[in-house]
Amino acid sequence: LSVVALISGSGSNLQALIDAQEQGAPFRILAVISNEPDAFGLERARRHGIATEVLNHRDYPDRAGFDSALAAAIDGHDPGLVVLAGFMRILTPAFVEHYRGRLLNIHPSLLPRYQGLNTHKRALEAGDTEHGASVHFVTAELDGGPVVLQARVPVLPGDDPGTLAARVLKQEHVIYPTVVRWFAEGRLRLEADGRPHLDGEV
Ligand code: GRF
Repeated sequence: LSVVALISGSGSNLQALIDAQEQGAPFRILAVISNEPDAFGLERARRHGIATEVLNHRDYPDRAGFDSALAAAIDGHDPGLVVLAGFMRILTPAFVEHYRGRLLNIHPSLLPRYQGLNTHKRALEAGDTEHGASVHFVTAELDGGPVVLQARVPVLPGDDPGTLAARVLKQEHVIYPTVVRWFAEGRLRLEADGRPHLDGEV
């Protein structure tokens, strides 16, 4: 399966996917596209010989203009799957619809709780005893698409958003490659009714 990854930052989830691919998972990341020129994830991609591209959203007059340039860049690689790996831009419904069933995201909360930003701080403020991360198919609703797999972590006494984020991120690095592998194996799909379907055991 050919994959294009979209990033904005550190790219540690991208790294987890690269590691899985190098350990024999049946997918290949063809290109990494970042909206941030200085994203460290671009360097990670280069170190592994993966093509990189920067599309700075500031160079476009509006969201639709950026998204159509982004779609053109992605479609140039003709990928079977697009993964959002810490990509910090909201995508237009037209973009999302174009990639229906082949666009995945990872979000650092137990969806449907805490869509949007600052999830770790919000979980702490709510007094949650449990927090986590979710891999989901992307639909037009921000962080609202159907969840495929979640990882749970405890909230521990003395946690601050940083310590909690680190605990969650470690699990992100497990569940994202797992889901991409399922998709690459042809075991995971988004049904016409909008529900994810997995053949076989988790
Ligand atoms: C992760 O927590 C991801 O879930 C989120 O942004 C963070 C990105 O981290 N939306 P990285 O760039 O993959 O290291």
